[in-house]
Amino acid sequence: MRGIPFFALLALLGSGGALAQSGTPAAAAPLAFGRAGPAKVSTGLRQRIDGCIACHGPHGQGGGSGGYAPRIGGKPAGYLYHQLQNFRDGRRAYPLMTWMVQYLPGAYMKEIAAYFASQSPPPPQPQVPMVTQATLDLGRRLVSMGDPARGVPACMACHGANLMGVEPDVPGLVGLTNDYISAQLGAFKQEIRRTKAPNCMHEVTSRLDGSEIGAVAAWLSSQPVPPGAKPAAAGSVKFPLRCGSIDGDG
Ligand code: HEC
Ligand code: HEC
Repeated sequence: MRGIPFFALLALLGSGGALAQSGTPAAAAPLAFGRAGPAKVSTGLRQRIDGCIACHGPHGQGGGSGGYAPRIGGKPAGYLYHQLQNFRDGRRAYPLMTWMVQYLPGAYMKEIAAYFASQSPPPPQPQVPMVTQATLDLGRRLVSMGDPARGVPACMACHGANLMGVEPDVPGLVGLTNDYISAQLGAFKQEIRRTKAPNCMHEVTSRLDGSEIGAVAAWLSSQPVPPGAKPAAAGSVKFPLRCGSIDGDG
């Protein structure tokens, strides 16, 4: 539960607590998705995303939770939908996110994913890297070329040449913070973050050591989001490994 501002936690716990004790209608407590049972839950999309924008911003630009909540606006809808399922089903561990989605019906998840996928939040300022030029060069090399001798494919081979992702299931890698990217890569490596099998991101990260992960995260977070750039079209990329999370069903 790193980086959650105390007030956000209070707001979240507060609305859930009030519901549990007094049965406050969900319309008055938009953070409490589905907790009151289907009859009392508002069907308005606005209300369903109200609880999300506290941390992810109205257009999904991210930055809440002490800067840790990731940018989700403009990421492919299938990818976002899979993540909501992953938090619900325990393939990803982050207690507040699990709490947000655990009672969310699948149809709402798709609707919320589609909403954030359709957003184009303003590009964030790239982060100033706190590493040496040699580390940045290593990061750039791994992202654009991989390391064929060790079977590490280029990140661009799957995340798109402009690193904006590929429709419908592969996320973009620019516009994210160094902290978030390194945490996710570490979690894939240790299989704390999982996908439907096979988990190609585990294969990729298991071939990288900690300093390479640091280099990749530093380089990616220092790259600007190309203005107006979108994920690459579905079917335009031939993936070098099989990924269970690329199934096109969402
Ligand atoms: C208290 C702050 C908070 C709230 C409220 C919140 N999120 Fe999150 N969300 C986070 C954080 C922090 C992460 C990163 C967790 C991790 O490290 O895996 C995250 C991760 C995600 C991801 C995965 C992003 C990616 O690129 O893989 C999605 C999708 C998401 N949230 C959607 C939602 C939706 C939809 C809602 C509303 C139902 C919501 N979030 C509410 C803080 C929040
Ligand atoms: C074989 C294809 C493939 C390759 C190669 C690959 N990725 Fe991925 N990556 C994926 C897929 C698919 C996902 C989505 C997994 C999921 O649904 O959780 C993903 C997810 C991610 C995420 C999570 C993004 C988020 O918003 O939470 C990060 C970070 C990431 N990859 C970084 C990298 C880096 C860095 C490299 C290169 C060292 C790389 N990937 C190489 C396919 C690939």
